[in-house]
Formats: sequence, structure tokens, C-alpha cells
Amino acid sequence: MKIGVVGLGTMGAGIAQLAVEAGLETVGHEVTYELGERARARIEHFLSRKVDKGQIDSFDIDLLTLTIGLDDLADCDVVIEAIVEELDPKRELFAELDRICRPDAVLATNTSALSVTEIAGGATRPERVVGMHFFNPAPLMPLVEIVRAERTSDEAFETAYALGERLGKHPIRCHDTPGFVVNRVLIPLLNDCLRVLDEARVTPADLDAGMRHGAGWPMGPCELVDLVGIDVHVHASEALWEKLREPRMAPPPRLVAMANAGLLGRKSGRGFYEYDES
Ligand SMILES: NC(=O)c1ccc[n+]([C@@H]2O[C@H](COP(=O)([O-])OP(=O)(O)OC[C@H]3O[C@@H](n4cnc5c(N)ncnc54)[C@H](O)[C@@H]3O)[C@@H](O)[C@H]2O)c1
Repeated sequence: MKIGVVGLGTMGAGIAQLAVEAGLETVGHEVTYELGERARARIEHFLSRKVDKGQIDSFDIDLLTLTIGLDDLADCDVVIEAIVEELDPKRELFAELDRICRPDAVLATNTSALSVTEIAGGATRPERVVGMHFFNPAPLMPLVEIVRAERTSDEAFETAYALGERLGKHPIRCHDTPGFVVNRVLIPLLNDCLRVLDEARVTPADLDAGMRHGAGWPMGPCELVDLVGIDVHVHASEALWEKLREPRMAPPPRLVAMANAGLLGRKSGRGFYEYDES
């Protein structure tokens, strides 16, 4: 099986790493070779560390070839898209992939918040378009949601499911609804938690302790949002709010203010907590 990955950013590089680790021939597409090379170096670094730790015996980085031309994805069996989270570029990309790839190839999107059905609308054969929603960091998080869009064929759906397993993930099947399964539940729940900060005038550390020790959460809500990225959480909340119009989906004003102030969590060194990454 040959895999294509379009966009080798945070998610695409993680997905390409999984494919290489599974011993699959993989073509990685980026907008420049420099970005592609950077992603490949990261993948090689992470896989080497796994070898050092005895988690895998070996890997072959040459399974991953890089390209800046979509034509090089023509003979892939499955192409997974992980480019910017915007509808128009994704629809354009799927129209192109639909034209370039073999008719039996499956085209998957890793979108978190957009409609897979709308993305598939860019293709003349929407039956072969499916959602494969990996979680961040893709090499570590066990789940992948396999999302059936309005016109996804059974063959495409099951091919994506089987690939999820082949990549060592635990796939679950669902339909194309806002937030799919996990984010539909988790985002309003986290927003509720964060509103309690102001309502109950509890500190972030006490709220986190409360949910860890009283609800059995492995990580408190403030720690989790810091890890995900405050801006990423605000963006996902806004997308769900726009689609479902349930007040719980809307990002709490405190979070929006933090995102605007550049307090993005771990990646910016400060969110609810301070981080010293040096
Ligand atoms: N980051 C997360 O936590 C997360 C989790 C699950 C799903 N997702 C989804 O995965 C997708 C990618 O997110 P990310 O966080 O990896 O973004 P990112 O910004 O880290 O990476 C996107 C990459 O795509 C490249 N790119 C942009 N347009 C392109 C194009 N037309 N062709 C090829 N490459 C292109 C960019 O150069 C960049 O390297 C989004 O749809 C996002 O919603 C993200």
C-alpha cells in the first residue's frame, strides 16, 4: 500500500511518521522542499529516539519521499490531507487530487472542525472521500475517528478504517457531524470547566486538582487547554458554536482574551501556567 500525505505540518508529519513506522511507502507533499525536508528530519529524529529506547527495532526513512508536485501522488492508494484548516483550499485540493489520483484511490481529510461532506464537494467522485481525524500528537494518541460523509462509499470507509488499524491506531466509526465524536463532547465540557473559574472563583490549580481528584481525569482542564493551545481551543469552539449555536460551545471570554494577548499555553511559554521550555 502506498500512502500520500499532503501538508507535513504538526499533524501531517505525525501521520507520515506513522506510515513510515508501519513500513508503508509514503509520499509527503509540502509547499516547498525546505518545509518537507524539515518535516522529514523531525520524523527521522523521533523514529531514531524510538529505536534508542527499544520501542522499535529499526525504520527505513527512505520509505518517505518528498514532493512539491501533486502529480507525484498519482499512484497512491490512500492520500491523507493535513493542510490549513480552511474550506476553500481543502476543496480545491480535493478537486485536484480527484483529477490526479487513480479512480479507486481513497482521499481522506484530517479536518477537525470542517464538514467532510463540504470538502468532498470539491471532488467529482465524492464517494471516495472520507474523514480520518487523528489526534495531536498523532504518533502518540491512539484514537482515529473514521468519518463517513454524506456520499462516502462503504469501500472507501472500510479502507480508511483498515488503514487506521495498520497505522497502529484504535479507529472508531462515526458520521459527519460538527465536532465528530470526541470534540463534540470535550469542547463544551472544557468550556464549562473554564467558566467555573470565574463563577466559583476557583484558581486554575484548584480546578485542575478538583477534576483530577474528584472526577478521575488524568489531567486538569487548564493543563489540557494549555497543552492543546488556547488559540486552537478557541478556534475549535468558535467552529462548533457557529454550526450548533449552543451557548456552551462558544469560547469563554477569558480564553478569547488570553488568545488575543498571546497567552497560548505551553507553546508560548505561558497560558494558565508558566512553562520553562529551556
Ligand atoms: N493541530 C492539531 O491539534 C490538530 C488535530 C487534529 C486535526 N488537525 C487538523 O489537521 C490539519 C492540519 O493541521 P496542523 O495543525 O498540522 O497545521 P500546520 O499548520 O502545522 O500544518 C499545515 C501544513 O500544511 C502545509 N500546507 C498548507 N497548504 C498546503 C497545500 N495547499 N498543499 C500542501 N501543503 C500545504 C503548510 O505548509 C503546513 O506545513 C487541519 O485541518 C487541522 O484542523 C489538527
